[in-house]
Amino acid sequence: MEKLVSLCKRKGFIFQSSAIYGGINGCWDFGPLGVELKRNLKEHWWYTFVLSRDDMVGLDASIIMHPDVWVASGHVEEFHDILVDCKSCKKRFRQDHLETDRCPECGGELSEPRAFNSMLRTKMGVSDDTAVETYLRPETCQSIFVDFKDICSSTRVKIPFGIAQIGKSFRNEVNPRNFIFRSREFEQMEIEFFCREEEEAVWFERWRNDIWSWYLSLGLREDKLRWYEHPKETLAHYSKRTTDVEYEFPFGWGELQGLANRGIYDLTQHSKHSGKDLSFFDAGTNERYYPTVIEPSAGADRTTLAVLCDAYAEDVVKDEARVYLRLDPKLAPIKAAVLPLVKKDGLAEIAEALEKKLRLLFTTYYDHAGAIGRRYRRMDEVGTPYCICVDHQTKEDETVTVRERDSMEQVRMPVSELGTYILQRVSIRPIA
Ligand code: GAP
Repeated sequence: MEKLVSLCKRKGFIFQSSAIYGGINGCWDFGPLGVELKRNLKEHWWYTFVLSRDDMVGLDASIIMHPDVWVASGHVEEFHDILVDCKSCKKRFRQDHLETDRCPECGGELSEPRAFNSMLRTKMGVSDDTAVETYLRPETCQSIFVDFKDICSSTRVKIPFGIAQIGKSFRNEVNPRNFIFRSREFEQMEIEFFCREEEEAVWFERWRNDIWSWYLSLGLREDKLRWYEHPKETLAHYSKRTTDVEYEFPFGWGELQGLANRGIYDLTQHSKHSGKDLSFFDAGTNERYYPTVIEPSAGADRTTLAVLCDAYAEDVVKDEARVYLRLDPKLAPIKAAVLPLVKKDGLAEIAEALEKKLRLLFTTYYDHAGAIGRRYRRMDEVGTPYCICVDHQTKEDETVTVRERDSMEQVRMPVSELGTYILQRVSIRPIA
């Protein structure tokens, strides 16, 4: 982890938030390369689960919602962590994270456990006396339930169908830790899939398969992934069944995504609390009912971290150590670097012009500083899958070499074929 955290900072993937002020615990910033990586990951998720399917629609709802939403959802009542304080070193811990009844830091005596609500509070309104206290959402899914009626009446969706949303969520985590794994501000990629109760087992199984395939499509190693089935006694208040996808991080197995059967809990709760009937009218069968909800709920930051951990690799090339990121090309922040073999002889100008053309098709980078081997290494370290080298032969026959990151093999091809060659290998959507 230390090597990866250092690479992320050095190369502009992930920085500590507000670092010049000493940082703020549990908040992170995605730098110039990190933002591209996470955007690609989210776009791939959206393409897989929304755009390429005919039974899904999307939503982008507000982060701050009416405070009653969180009463209806059960978060005001139920969303608590049980905390204990060390009487000696004053550190605070979640009781369910402790393995002994003494302080894990100093061995001191612990206080009586007490409940602490993990939602982040905020106030909305211009003057203190009229401002309404509400929360920054702790999960994106509640707006999907709250907007269910509007979505059904504004589209022609028929059950079974799903609603997807990607967006920020906030939790006052007691111990944010393991880099971006557990933070206080993070992004979720959630789906609420509405089906008939008698089909819940079938849809649960289909989603299990679809989710698993998606993680494999990110290039994650299958032996680093596993399912964890929650025992009945530890299920969240809304869940009939939950199973998680876990990844083996350098610090141990950690949850990437939950798959839950939420039953009809949320739609009935919001109907009761708002006084608006959120049941679904099925015009085909002339029935009105509350559909059952199957919820695949993933974390964009955790998945980005898993992708980075899985991609980190070291080897030795010509007696020199090489660090490289084996990122799947569709996730890589820079798809191709254009490098003149040497800066002189007009090669830099040809390479720069080529890079300008290619950047309209995919993300590119131009670099002429230092020996070509060094420049290849710099690109390997940030996971760039292709390096295009402009050399003296380019001037004669308009061909270049294309070097692949992992195998380091080079092929020579006409400049006119480059765009299609690379697009076919880096695009999230298939290229016809
Ligand atoms: N709507 C259901 C729900 O929110 P969850 O298991 O609490 O379920 C879903 O969260 C996913 O959100 C997790 O699997 C994880 O990937 C991500 N997540 C939750 N808390 C997080 C945190 N503090 N930091 C980063 N990601 C988090």
